[in-house]
Amino acid sequence: MSIDCDYGEVLKLDATGPLAPARMPFIRKITEEIVAIHHSIKDFVDREIYQDPSGHLKAVFRQLDDLIALDIDDRSAEDILSNSRFNSAFDAISTFRSQYTAELEAEQAESILKSRDPWKTLTDFTYLPNYIQLAQTECQGAGLKPGDTVLFLGSGPLPLTLIVLCHQHGLNGIGIEQYPERAELSMRVLEKLGLSSQIRIISGNHLMLPLEEMPDLIMVAALAEPKKEIFDHLASVLPAGTKISHRIYEKGLRQMLDTFYHYELPERLREYLRIPPEPPVNNTSVFLTVAD
Ligand SMILES: C[S@@+](CC[C@H](N)C(=O)[O-])C[C@H]1O[C@@H](n2cnc3c(N)ncnc32)[C@H](O)[C@@H]1O
Repeated sequence: MSIDCDYGEVLKLDATGPLAPARMPFIRKITEEIVAIHHSIKDFVDREIYQDPSGHLKAVFRQLDDLIALDIDDRSAEDILSNSRFNSAFDAISTFRSQYTAELEAEQAESILKSRDPWKTLTDFTYLPNYIQLAQTECQGAGLKPGDTVLFLGSGPLPLTLIVLCHQHGLNGIGIEQYPERAELSMRVLEKLGLSSQIRIISGNHLMLPLEEMPDLIMVAALAEPKKEIFDHLASVLPAGTKISHRIYEKGLRQMLDTFYHYELPERLREYLRIPPEPPVNNTSVFLTVAD
């Protein structure tokens, strides 16, 4: 991926553009941080495995998390995100975050497998509070009750959403993961946590839906791709009345991670609720039903 963006140009832009003078230092600081993050990750994107002996990437990942969670006004966010010179940087940054999230999950999954106290090792995972809050939101938004079944598309090496929904909310789960090695790792983790009777993992992707068993909710991970193919397929095969929830990056600088913006949902998928994120969560949860 060649990145031919002249950041000098970008940074110079705001000195002459329509930005309110008061906001310029703030926007400049954020712009410089995006440039720095991009420089740190651009040579790693598309590598199979992130060799990170120095832990530098972990620091960049955290820096990116702090940046996207910044409480920024919509106008400033718009000014930064609408700068088309950043598009390739945003693509590289969201690819890095998606790939590195899976790396961190795989690392934590291996620690759980090695642990004498797997539940403690799970609860020590830095990002678990995000999933606990998301699961609460999605349970309420979809009106789920104990005994219901949820299907999660994009469950990953560590199926945190399903683990929280099943362990804390008494649901049953089905996870679908496209990479067999990640699916297999997640199955071993669930076995270790004693959850394999409550959560089933299938190695595959969205094209295997619908399954024979109809879940009470189909959840689509924020990192599930490609969005257009997934939602077009769901709209074409699911029976009317099916409930779907999905996660998007919509608020503030989180939008730089959004891969949904090029795409409109098919007419058959009707939105009935949207819940914006509360820290530490980054995703907006959107709830849909399939129309006739
Ligand atoms: C890293 S996990 C993040 C979700 C997190 N583990 C959870 O429980 O909420 C996202 C996973 O989705 C998988 N994935 C992406 N697109 C997919 C698709 N279309 N079908 C199945 N899995 C997919 C990726 O391979 C990745 O492992």
